Amino acid sequence: MNYRHAFHAGNHADVLKHAVLLFCLDSLKRKETPFAVLDTHAGRGLYDLAGDEAQRSPEWQDGVSRLWSWPEPPPLVARYLDAVRSFNQDGALRTYPGSPALVTTQLRADDVLMACELHPEEHAALRRSLPRQANVQVHARDGWEALSALLPPPQRRGLVLIDPPYEAPDELNISARAIGGALKRFGHGTYLWWRPLKDERLLTAADDEVRAQGAKEILRADLWTASPTREGRLVGSSVALINPPFGLNAALQEALPFLAEALTKGQSGWRLSQN
Ligand SMILES: C[S@@+](CC[C@H](N)C(=O)[O-])C[C@H]1O[C@@H](n2cnc3c(N)ncnc32)[C@H](O)[C@@H]1O
Repeated sequence: MNYRHAFHAGNHADVLKHAVLLFCLDSLKRKETPFAVLDTHAGRGLYDLAGDEAQRSPEWQDGVSRLWSWPEPPPLVARYLDAVRSFNQDGALRTYPGSPALVTTQLRADDVLMACELHPEEHAALRRSLPRQANVQVHARDGWEALSALLPPPQRRGLVLIDPPYEAPDELNISARAIGGALKRFGHGTYLWWRPLKDERLLTAADDEVRAQGAKEILRADLWTASPTREGRLVGSSVALINPPFGLNAALQEALPFLAEALTKGQSGWRLSQN
């Protein structure tokens, strides 16, 4: 486990993933009944953009930073920026909130976050980052195992975020099979599955695998900010939403062309499909 999200926090992929995450949480909050969020690969929670990793790899400068002072971004992006601003109250962008930190800002008294992080240092940092309250549960456990052990949640409604580091070559396939198993236990939950946009054939195969395992409706949003490089550097990402919330497709139709233009480093683009 060498991956450290601090090198990538706030980049174009985080912008897309976290904007979609907040939309999903807002949708869940439209009903009064409590929900649960399972974050299978949570990271350290808060990222210091003046810290060593973020300075050595300033991906955030071509991500969230480009949007920071944008006058009127589309609603999906404006909502995301407001959430990031709540961690930077003096207006200067210094702290980037990862997925579990963003989720904790949205929980009502009876909603629950289950955040799993296996790396010991990242897990310790996550514990320090998140508020100490009964409905915020931090687990030092394997996110793949948690998909079996923690689903379905007692609340019977909620969101599952699957955001592995893709260090292992077959992690797309591992994810697809694990999500297939989770769908059998919690078929009506919303799943937000982040994937690197590197090999289109592998991604389509992963989508097909999840469909074969029972996913009925998938909304897929792809965003890339440059053309693929020979070194395989990440230039784009794809989020797949299984059981997507109502209105997300329309919100992405508006936000994706904006993001492709605002975050471009050359040949940017986007794609959206739902079936
Ligand atoms: C892409 S980062 C997570 C970023 C976070 N979801 C966010 O959006 O802010 C992936 C994290 O998964 C952790 N990790 C790797 N393998 C894991 C496993 N099997 N179970 C749980 N966490 C794992 C890594 O240490 C890393 O912190």
